[in-house]
Amino acid sequence: MTELIDKKIQQDEEPPTNRDPMQVIQVGLDDGYAYTKVALPNGKLMAVPSRARMGEAGVTWIREEEQRIFEYKTDGTVYSVGAVDGEPTQFDEYPGSGLNRVIVQHALQQAGLTGRSVHMVTGLPVSAFYSNDGKRRDKAIKRKRENLKLTVDPVPPHSASQQWPVKASIAFHDVIPEALAAWYDHVIILQDDGVTLDADRLNAPIAIIDIGGRTTDYVVVQDQGIVHGSSGSLNCGMLNVKIRVANQIQTKFDINELGEQSIAKAVETNSLRLHGKAHDVSAMVKDAKRELVERLYAETRRKLGLGAELDRVLFVGGGSAALASDIADWFPNQTIADHAAFANARGMLKYLQFVCDDTATQ
Ligand SMILES: Nc1ncnc2c1ncn2[C@@H]1O[C@H](COP(=O)(O)OP(=O)(O)OP(=O)(O)O)[C@@H](O)[C@H]1O
Ligand SMILES: [Mg+2]
Repeated sequence: MTELIDKKIQQDEEPPTNRDPMQVIQVGLDDGYAYTKVALPNGKLMAVPSRARMGEAGVTWIREEEQRIFEYKTDGTVYSVGAVDGEPTQFDEYPGSGLNRVIVQHALQQAGLTGRSVHMVTGLPVSAFYSNDGKRRDKAIKRKRENLKLTVDPVPPHSASQQWPVKASIAFHDVIPEALAAWYDHVIILQDDGVTLDADRLNAPIAIIDIGGRTTDYVVVQDQGIVHGSSGSLNCGMLNVKIRVANQIQTKFDINELGEQSIAKAVETNSLRLHGKAHDVSAMVKDAKRELVERLYAETRRKLGLGAELDRVLFVGGGSAALASDIADWFPNQTIADHAAFANARGMLKYLQFVCDDTATQ
């Protein structure tokens, strides 16, 4: 079995700070189907919705600070990213697509990395990374790795007074399974005076459950190896709540042209505005969440049983935060990670900083 961490972390190794603008910056970037999350070496965490569509925005911003849609060009096609009704990202080819590329570039721009050279680790859902027998899906991994290295240029602003954005160039890019990233986050501990491996956590059997937008990922790690029989992905997550509520709204209010942003807001606030009037949709949201929680519970028991042999069950992903009260008593030894939506992005950054060798050429 190959150990998941083979590079020895020195007790006194200082986390890099990357303050010099000419210096390469290391980034953990979890480009999920719902949100693209970024972790930077200075501890900053930020996220943008994974929301974009093909075509120009068709909007001229009068005041630069009010710009909410940004245009990017890649492979000859212009995309609009930001406050647009996004094309669904929930298709299997998303990780190798132009849509994915422009959303990632936008996240880097929003993280303040304009013009910077970036070394980056991203992820794929466990079942996209490994086949059922535990073999790496090298073709899919390579496709994702190469895809994000293709050029994406921010389209110059229409007004000359606006700052000209410069692309962030991805000089190094590696891909790891999404929920496994949260394991690296769990075992690699950053302290004021350096970084260390938590020896107890390193060898204890643990299950990580990553409840995301489109997928829920399971990874069981024991003796620094992945237990493939209990690991994998379920095509089910928080976006199912949105789809279900959208269908119910359509039936109840007899409308079909409602935009994706309005649905997202209705789910978030339990209220839908139509013709200037607010409608309470909390019962629909509650129903949709209950249905999702039931599916997740059944799959979790199927994969992990009662988890008696696991030291810990760690919940990560935005869905774990959103459903915290619904999943509170699934296992006696469970925890929800701090800022759960960012656990993978933090782990991807730690993997890049302390485990993989980003000085090697790919
Ligand atoms: N702190 C939070 N509180 C409540 N809900 C949250 C929080 N953070 C994220 N969410 C919700 O959780 C959902 C899943 O977010 P997450 O970022 O984990 O998905 P994703 O990683 O993009 O999806 P996938 O893993 O399937 O690719 C989103 O719909 C988001 O609205
Ligand atoms: Mg995710």
